[in-house]
Amino acid sequence: MVAMRPIIIAANWKMNSTPADAGTLAATIAAATNAADVVRVICPPYVCLAPVREALAATGVAVGAQNVHDKAAGAYTGEISAAMLAGLADWCIVGHSERRRDQCETDELIGRKLARCLESGLRPIWCVGEQLEEREAGRAEAVVRAQVARALSASGLGGGEGAASIVIAYEPVWAIGTGRTARGADAATMAEAIRGALQESGWAHDAAERVPVLYGGSVTAASIAEFLAEPAIDGALVGGASLKPDEMAGIVARAAATAAARRAAAR
Ligand code: PGA
Repeated sequence: MVAMRPIIIAANWKMNSTPADAGTLAATIAAATNAADVVRVICPPYVCLAPVREALAATGVAVGAQNVHDKAAGAYTGEISAAMLAGLADWCIVGHSERRRDQCETDELIGRKLARCLESGLRPIWCVGEQLEEREAGRAEAVVRAQVARALSASGLGGGEGAASIVIAYEPVWAIGTGRTARGADAATMAEAIRGALQESGWAHDAAERVPVLYGGSVTAASIAEFLAEPAIDGALVGGASLKPDEMAGIVARAAATAAARRAAAR
């Protein structure tokens, strides 16, 4: 029996929008993407969480943060804890490659953040992905499997705890913000490898199969179909295109069609 996973489209606004304009943009995107069968999440900058939350209140679109600190509280100037996000966000991106690159986030730190999210009731969107040289050297799968294993080992979630909550985004680093996407088939192979790595870390087969794996990296309304055509892929983490309501409308429309087709096939 194949696990019926939700289709998720998550918007990563990165360091874009302001508290003055974020609510309007979020409301416009929500109105343009009305699809009951698709889990929609918008992740604005921290300072825009409150206006976005308010703008999305009656829309069914969830709100996520882009990062969280691994500690509960303390002397960490400029940081944001999971408790501070209560009432503002239900989701949280963890381990984005831009933070791995610019803030030197390690898999061990990312694992601790995952545990913090789960403990606090935040649904993590956990990002993994290889560099271009790693793919060209034929090491992409080994690199991503190792990212999964190291973070899980640091998280203490080796028994499949949080399986119902965790979402993984496979984002090849060379495809982020470059206009260059992975091939659908390669992303699907990686999604299967990720579920395999969860099992190697001690998760039961069913728990690993329940985890949605999204693709991320230059996703647009034009490129999303190739990924959603792969049964192993359950949606997308969208960066640049997520600031454009027309692009989001096209992406979510395709996701809704995929959700309907998968449901019909599972009957
Ligand atoms: P992109 O970003 O869609 O602009 O490539 C995706 C991401 O970084 O999550």
